[in-house]
Order: sequence, then structure tokens, then C-alpha cells
Amino acid sequence: MESIEFKAFVVEEKDGAFSGQIINRRVDDLPDNDLLVKVHYSSLNYKDALSATGNKGVTREYPHTPGIDAAGTVVNDASGKFNENEPVIVTSYDLGMNTDGGFGQYIRVPSEWAVKLPEGMTMKESMLFGTAGFTAGMSVMRLIETVKPEDGNIAVSGATGGVGALSIGILSKLGYAVSAISGKEQERDFLLELGAQEVLPRQDFEEENKRPMLKAAFAGVIDTVGGNILGNLIKSTRPMGLVTCCGNVASPNLDLTVFPFILRGVSLIGIDSQNCPMSQREIVWKKLAGEWMPNNLQGLSNEISQAELSHSIDLMLGGNLKGRTVVNLEM
Ligand SMILES: NC(=O)c1ccc[n+]([C@@H]2O[C@H](COP(=O)([O-])OP(=O)(O)OC[C@H]3O[C@@H](n4cnc5c(N)ncnc54)[C@H](OP(=O)(O)O)[C@@H]3O)[C@@H](O)[C@H]2O)c1
Repeated sequence: MESIEFKAFVVEEKDGAFSGQIINRRVDDLPDNDLLVKVHYSSLNYKDALSATGNKGVTREYPHTPGIDAAGTVVNDASGKFNENEPVIVTSYDLGMNTDGGFGQYIRVPSEWAVKLPEGMTMKESMLFGTAGFTAGMSVMRLIETVKPEDGNIAVSGATGGVGALSIGILSKLGYAVSAISGKEQERDFLLELGAQEVLPRQDFEEENKRPMLKAAFAGVIDTVGGNILGNLIKSTRPMGLVTCCGNVASPNLDLTVFPFILRGVSLIGIDSQNCPMSQREIVWKKLAGEWMPNNLQGLSNEISQAELSHSIDLMLGGNLKGRTVVNLEM
């Protein structure tokens, strides 16, 4: 057992520059945790791109194997929670940040980080969702508690990205009309096929606007980018509407007055998938495997091998990826 050798995409730091390459590692070099998983699929998330390019807020020490998502089969579990060969999903916690992640063919993690693969979902589908889809699921869960389909359109920013695209797929499955906000005019058809009712240009929302409130246009918002776009969307939310906020691709800053909150009763909800409690995590995964599964999930996916990771990471950092990138560890 201890002598298993496997391939991992490892990022190294040399003279302040970071680059990833595939090297052979051994299972006995993995962290000393109770659950050993053979990884079949992983996926690429924005945080992985940051980890792979030396963002010390994500990963403190290198060499490092990124990959905040993994789906695979249990090799052994010293805790006794999982059986051998049982399919499991491991996302977030510290996976791929400062713990060797899913861009390697094996991970060893605390068993409390793993969720049994829900019925009705394949390992590949689970990584088509991955942390991005799980975050979309958490955002939708918070939104639909307050906003109903008849209340009006839901704006989704970063629409062609992982969280955005999956939010659109889930919301349209649930009967909501979605206004997709995207910087990619050429992906209009992709967004309409996903279920968006309309596609709005990102530049209409990017300008800083000092007015405390704008015309109320949306019943709810799932924002994945932050900055002026989030600010303008909060100002454009209808009375008693709800806005979720999960990302900072555009900017971590948010310049606002209190007026949307005290004059329109708008709620701003932060989404943190990393620290989501296990009880809620299991509910979201079950929903994603069932009634929330978008009709055209496969159409969102681009499958790559470990060897193609560096190229896809560059595309992601340039904002040029669309949908979800699934990493097949057996390719
Ligand atoms: N809080 C959490 O738990 C959590 C979990 C997962 C992800 N996140 C965060 O959520 C964000 C989105 O993640 P993701 O996986 O969906 O990333 P992604 O796949 O890279 O998508 C981001 C999308 O944002 C848009 N975009 C890119 N650059 C932009 C810019 N400069 N200004 C405005 N929009 C821009 C692009 O969509 P368009 O071209 O269509 O506009 C892009 O496809 C990231 O910040 C990520 O770290 C947070």
C-alpha cells in the first residue's frame, strides 16, 4: 500500500516564478490523514488557478499539488466511516490549498471532509459541478428561500464562468427567468441554451455610479464577480429582493451607501462554500443530483487531462474559459 506511485500536477517556485509540471509522487508522502482516495476526476476552479500561480493567500508553501475538488473511490478509511471502493466527493475545506489536492491521482484527507456520492450522480457529473456548482447550489438555496419565480428576473454575473453558468442552469430548471450578465458577446447562444431569458453586456454594469440607487430591475441577484458590478446590481434590486455574493473576479471592493438596504429592504447574503456545515453540504449535493440537475449539464463541460492543466489555468486567469473544466485523472 505505502509504495503506490502516482502522477500529480505539482506547482514549484523557482526564483519567484511559479510553474506546474506532472511528476511521480508516492502515497506515503501524502498528509497523514484517515481517508485515502483514488481520484478519478477533479475540476478546475478559480482558486486552483490562484494556487497554481503562487497566490500566498491561497497556498502558503510550495511545491504544492492544487485541486480543491476531487471525486474518487475509497482505498481505505481508518475512521470506518466509508467502505473500500465507495465513491466519494471531497470539496473545499483545505483540499488543494495547503493540503495536497485533486490534481494528483491520490489524496489523503480527514474522513469528515468527504461526502458519499449521492444517488443519481456519476463521479464525472459531481466534478462538473465541483466547488463552482456547489457554490451555485448554495447561492440558489439562499435565493429561493426569499425570491419566487413570479417576483421577476434574477441577474447572474460572471455568467459564462463556472458558478455563473451552473446558477443559470439550476435557476432555469426551477422556473426562474434569468438575466445573464456576461463580457462575452460571442457566448450569447451558449447562455440562452443554458436557459437564460436574456443576455446583458457586462460593460453596462462596470462603470462606477455614485447614485445611491438605480432603477429597480431585478428580483434577485447571484453575483460572482464583486466590485462595481455587484454594487450596481445591489442598487438595481427591487424592494425586498435578495443578492448573493461569492466572488471577487472583478474586484474585492464594494462601494455603497446603506440606502438599498434601508429604503428597499434588499438583503445581501455572503456565500462561503469552504466552511459550509456537513449537514447543509449533504442537502445541497442531493438537490444537485436530483431536482436541481440542469438539463444540459454535459454541454457545460470541457474534459482535460493533467497535461492540459497549465493551458487551462492561463485561460481561466484571462477570463477566457467557459463553463466547467473537468480533469480526468485517468486520461
Ligand atoms: N465564496 C465561495 O465559496 C466561492 C466558491 C467558488 C468560487 N468562488 C469565487 O467565485 C468567483 C467565480 O468563480 P468561477 O469558478 O465561476 O470562476 P470562472 O469560471 O473563472 O468565471 C468567472 C467569470 O467572471 C467573468 N469575469 C472574468 N473576468 C472578469 C472581470 N475582470 N470583471 C468582471 N467579470 C469578469 C467571466 O464571465 P463573463 O465573461 O461571462 O462575464 C468569467 O467567466 C471567483 O472569484 C471565485 O474565487 C467563491
